[in-house]
Amino acid sequence: MKEIESKEDIRFLVDTFYSKVVKSEIGFFFDDIAKINWAKHLPNMYDFWSTLLFGEVAYKGNPMAVHFPINEIVAMEKHHFDIWIKLWTTTVNENFEGEIANLAIYKANNIAQLMAYKMEMARRM
Ligand code: HEM
Repeated sequence: MKEIESKEDIRFLVDTFYSKVVKSEIGFFFDDIAKINWAKHLPNMYDFWSTLLFGEVAYKGNPMAVHFPINEIVAMEKHHFDIWIKLWTTTVNENFEGEIANLAIYKANNIAQLMAYKMEMARRM
């Protein structure tokens, strides 16, 4: 087991995570609802995680904003975020250990919690 220390590690982590996501109960959000272009989404996520974990200036998007239109089609509820977090935590723990690995889990949890809250608030408006 090793620490997350390179862009290569991030690519492996993100690819492994999304290969689990597409087979899970939340896979339909990606393939059926958002119909995402994986060739674009995956590099975007490599940048996102490099920015969060290594402080690289790579990702310049707005992660909350892209989820609101999805939430309008199918409610993104807490139980969906629980699956997302479970898959992310499992993927990190199965492959990496150390401070950055813990940070990856910690930051994902914070964002997921905030995102779940914002999606719920948006549905009430
Ligand atoms: C149930 C939970 C989630 C679902 C179903 C979901 C679904 C999606 C989908 C379908 C997209 C692609 C949108 C598009 O390109 O049209 C996306 C993008 C993205 N998601 Fe999520 N997401 C979830 C949770 C999260 C969490 C917890 C994070 C952060 C830790 C996150 C970070 C991102 C980022 C950074 C993008 C790319 C944004 C951009 O294009 O700049 N997502 N998500």
